[in-house]
Amino acid sequence: DYTLPFLIEFPKIGAPALGYISVAENENLPFVPKRIYWTYFTPEEVERGGHSHFDLQQILIAVSGKIEVTTELLSGKKETFVLDRPNMGLYIPKMCWRDMKYSHNAVQVCVASIEYDEKDYIREYSEFLGYGRKETN
Ligand code: TYD
Repeated sequence: DYTLPFLIEFPKIGAPALGYISVAENENLPFVPKRIYWTYFTPEEVERGGHSHFDLQQILIAVSGKIEVTTELLSGKKETFVLDRPNMGLYIPKMCWRDMKYSHNAVQVCVASIEYDEKDYIREYSEFLGYGRKETN
């Protein structure tokens, strides 16, 4: 169901004595990636996110450190996900509000379904909520 956020467990190939490789590929991704970006050195007091998207779907991965992601859907459903394992990803569907907090050592990789386009963003929370009212009326 690609209308809800969910955790993806990527394969973890290796052993404690060798180290590991995790892989995101067609069979374990819900969309074909168009873009990959990463964020890092986010101060612990900074909250990122604060937007939703008309079309963009994403997978967030904490390849290092810990990321706390709060999601909210137009249905009102709110969830908090803790990403603290390099082989776990969080799928974020379109029309899903998100806020993120980072540990000092967090490196977040984002796998994105479309190219960057500021017109795809909804950055006003009240505008986001407005789309929910339209859907239920
Ligand atoms: P934003 O998506 O709001 O970041 P976050 O959700 O992590 O808080 O983007 C932050 C800024 O970076 C914003 O001004 C847009 C810019 N940006 C790009 O120019 N290209 C990109 O691919 C991304 C993701 C952001």
